[in-house]
Amino acid sequence: RTLLKSAAVAGAYGAGVAVLPRLSQALAAPSPAEIEAHVIEAVLDGKTSTRNVMSYGLAGAPSSDPSPPVLRMQRGKPFAARLTNRLDEPTTIHWHGLRIPNAQDGVPFVTQPYVYTGDTFDYAFTPPDAGTYWYHPHCNTLTQMGRGLTGMLVVEDDRDPVFDGEVALNLRDFRLGSDSQFIAQFKPRDAAKTGTFGTVRTANWQPEPVYDVPAGGLVRLRILASDVTRIYNLRLDGADAMIIAIDGHPVPVRVALDMAVVSPGQRLDLALRVPDSEGAMVSLEDIRPSTPKVVAQFRAVGASLKRNLGDLGPLSENAGVEADLANATPIPLLLSATAENAAKDSICGTLGYSFWAINKVPYPGDTADPTAPIAELKLGQSYILNVENVTPHAHPIHLHGMNFKAISSSKQAVQQQVSDTYLVLPDEKVQLALVADNPGDWVFHCHIIEHQKTGMTGYFRVT
Ligand code: C2O
Ligand code: CU
Repeated sequence: RTLLKSAAVAGAYGAGVAVLPRLSQALAAPSPAEIEAHVIEAVLDGKTSTRNVMSYGLAGAPSSDPSPPVLRMQRGKPFAARLTNRLDEPTTIHWHGLRIPNAQDGVPFVTQPYVYTGDTFDYAFTPPDAGTYWYHPHCNTLTQMGRGLTGMLVVEDDRDPVFDGEVALNLRDFRLGSDSQFIAQFKPRDAAKTGTFGTVRTANWQPEPVYDVPAGGLVRLRILASDVTRIYNLRLDGADAMIIAIDGHPVPVRVALDMAVVSPGQRLDLALRVPDSEGAMVSLEDIRPSTPKVVAQFRAVGASLKRNLGDLGPLSENAGVEADLANATPIPLLLSATAENAAKDSICGTLGYSFWAINKVPYPGDTADPTAPIAELKLGQSYILNVENVTPHAHPIHLHGMNFKAISSSKQAVQQQVSDTYLVLPDEKVQLALVADNPGDWVFHCHIIEHQKTGMTGYFRVT
């Protein structure tokens, strides 16, 4: 597994290749990290400055790059962060995919109070799994996330193989008008379907950025779909790559990347073998039929390092999902559309409509008076979530605080993949196995934020 270590030291870095152009602000977090949620102006469409962009800033980080900092922490080492809210509305931070104590989970009225304007909130936890995760608010999320408040989070493990370079890509759209300013975040009739798409598509808040990577090297691409709506069909043109992790967790079997579906909330880690010839370009493309698009590009720089994808050692392992299937309790979860076309009480960013339901209950979430949990789970017991999607739309369904593993599906081949988000296809029935190993109230929702905010959300109580 350390095969690449010595070669990398003598190779790319020694040759002075600028391997991590955009990661220069991925500062090692001081203790505690000082994270500020604030409003900035930034050029998102490559043309004109957009006002009222919401962003996270790390105290001490350079401000020339408007995209939020990549937070880095070590597996098994305590991490602490102080959130300061400089928005003019309440916010919180949710650490998507991290299995941490409930009180750190960042869901207002479920796990913590609002963090009001000018206030601070201290988060502290020890990440148990390595991999690619992210952080975002759980409060008025269509506006806050839609305007950019999302950041990538990397949990490092020094047993991971050393790559010749790494690029973290936060993929998202912004809804801008022709004057480059924000337009309405959603249209109700789209919220009742696929969700409302952005107008300007970016990676790390730039349209089609280009990254220099070492020729012939192995580069780790950490990709996050933080968009509130878009499902990506990602493919690489001009190079070979291998899928090495999904949703933070190493894949059970590595396969060459053909096309990978990455839905809102999900992550994809690729090992990219950069072409040998200096100047060669590699494109990361979204080939979703209606809207094909180059997302980002990579340019080979320097003399070839002549690496081999097959030589890449395994990633450090994360905990599995060891559910006791013979004794697991089934929980039916029906995802449906609802005719109940009325706003549900919510004081944190209700969209004013109910279009979706879990087990026939449309639940807007984040309310001061949440309804009952979807189900009560016993600590340590195994469960099978029998998710049935009877809508004509796909739903990336996400569970907080615990991982699951898909064990059967009526529509797709399931891998033994540990995950926190599963894209449930139209008319799909899927069984997700989990062990209720983390006590607390854990939110379960569609990560198409308009679906979440118009009913497709709820929570499990583990005691
Ligand atoms: Cu990305 Cu409720 O979370
Ligand atoms: Cu959905």
